[in-house]
Amino acid sequence: MIALASDHAGLPLKKEIIELLESMNLEYKDYGTYTGESCDYAIFGQKAANAVASCECERGILCCGTGIGISLAANKTKGIRCVVCSDCFSAKMSREHNNANMLALGARVVGGELARMIVEIWLTTEFAGGRHQRRVDQIMAIEAGEDLAAK
Ligand code: RB5
Repeated sequence: MIALASDHAGLPLKKEIIELLESMNLEYKDYGTYTGESCDYAIFGQKAANAVASCECERGILCCGTGIGISLAANKTKGIRCVVCSDCFSAKMSREHNNANMLALGARVVGGELARMIVEIWLTTEFAGGRHQRRVDQIMAIEAGEDLAAK
């Protein structure tokens, strides 16, 4: 199950992503917003992030104008590694090396076709593990309050 969320600016792109997920036969849950009325991205980013952090959804895809605000909001939830991507290489690496569990896209940054490619790559690339697991563990240790810099 993929968690989706957007603000008003990201809504048109989220609709394109919904079409893509349906064509890939992937299940999703849309945590809003559902209308073009101006709203605050942090609320919707947190709703989708909670769904991923609680394992109700395996991954999440977020859209706002730039992808930045909603990703910053999502990353405040424990367990979330949300990346903003505007290119296919970063999307692939964010899975292979960083085990990103949420992807954020900027509707005012990427066109629909590029966004579809990014999403497809991001959803189908597996985490490589190995030395990357250690590094991801370090990121999560920082989140848990460890002071890696003091070691
Ligand atoms: C809304 O105008 C815009 O600020 C928002 O969608 C996002 O780009 C913020 O990071």
